[in-house]
Amino acid sequence: MTAEKTLSPVTVEVHLDQSEWSSHLAEETRDGLLADPPWIPPVWFYDELGSELFDAITRLPEYYPTEAERSILAERADEIASVTGAQTLAELGSGTSDKTKLLLDALERGGTLERFAPFDCSEEILRDASSSISADRPGIAVHAVVGDFHEHLDGLPTDGVCLLAFLGSTIGNLDPAQRKTFLAEVASTLDDDDWFLLGTDLVKPVDRLVRAYDDAEGVTARFNINALSVMNDELGADFDPGSIEHRSVWNAEESRIEMHLVSLCDQRVSIPGLRGLHLEVPEGRHLRTEISTKFTSAQVETELAAAGLAVHEAWTDRSGDFQLTLARLA
Ligand code: SAH
Ligand code: TRP
Repeated sequence: MTAEKTLSPVTVEVHLDQSEWSSHLAEETRDGLLADPPWIPPVWFYDELGSELFDAITRLPEYYPTEAERSILAERADEIASVTGAQTLAELGSGTSDKTKLLLDALERGGTLERFAPFDCSEEILRDASSSISADRPGIAVHAVVGDFHEHLDGLPTDGVCLLAFLGSTIGNLDPAQRKTFLAEVASTLDDDDWFLLGTDLVKPVDRLVRAYDDAEGVTARFNINALSVMNDELGADFDPGSIEHRSVWNAEESRIEMHLVSLCDQRVSIPGLRGLHLEVPEGRHLRTEISTKFTSAQVETELAAAGLAVHEAWTDRSGDFQLTLARLA
């Protein structure tokens, strides 16, 4: 008698039309570069080198959020599994889904998990993560979705009781208007018995925040400047990465870290892929690339409530650096 093989199929559903996505990014980038103050959308960070650098950032001594969030998950994953009893774990902006394995393990131990649905705009990273997770977990189906979480949340498989996770304080990379729309969209995706698990970085002394985005080794600087090389490759731009400097800036009014690129000389950049844009970049001009909002616990609760979501429970790590919030429809 042959043993029956448990199949663990990976399906990948693509909601992003590559050429539509490219022209959407090009228009957004053009608008950003022409805005006052100018900014560059953070999507240009994540080519292969950028994804590797991001991975290295999460292991830097200065970059505390990843380990802080991991420690909360390690401590609370079984509790989250038993409270939710989720059959589907869906994850937005899943990336490598590394910390998510703690949730997958707990839900498997709890005996409820049937499928994992990672969702990311980067198809490559999603395929890698999906096949490695599927290989390690023959008992669950992996249903990956390539999409833009500002547009395609309706493409999420949420069968049975669904736990929708959004980790890494990626929500802090959205501005207040984007967060409002996004959270409303999340709420409309959830059923009454579904759950939302949100990771948020918390406000803390400014010097620690600034250093978390400007490490001594210069990895974050390389990550930030790499966005220009990606734009050179993808848009035929002629940014000189050598004459631009990385800066981590605290914006107190908006309670956020901003990553900037500062021009070290007067330069003229041409960007054929942005309808032939020519850009004068004077010495000392700041281009903003990423925002990373820092929250208070009360602010998290307020923003969730405005979207019709009620906090069930919230946990922080031992040092109170990071918060994980479990919420559901109010
Ligand atoms: N959740 C992981 C990765 C965070 S990095 C962690 O906690 O470490 C942010 C991830 O969100 C990246 O994988 C990036 O590709 C993805 N992402 C960024 N903008 C996105 C968008 N608009 N739609 C879908 N995914 C997005
Ligand atoms: N969500 C992460 C954060 O805001 C994204 C991030 C981590 C990041 N390190 C970064 C973005 C460095 C840009 C640069 O912390």
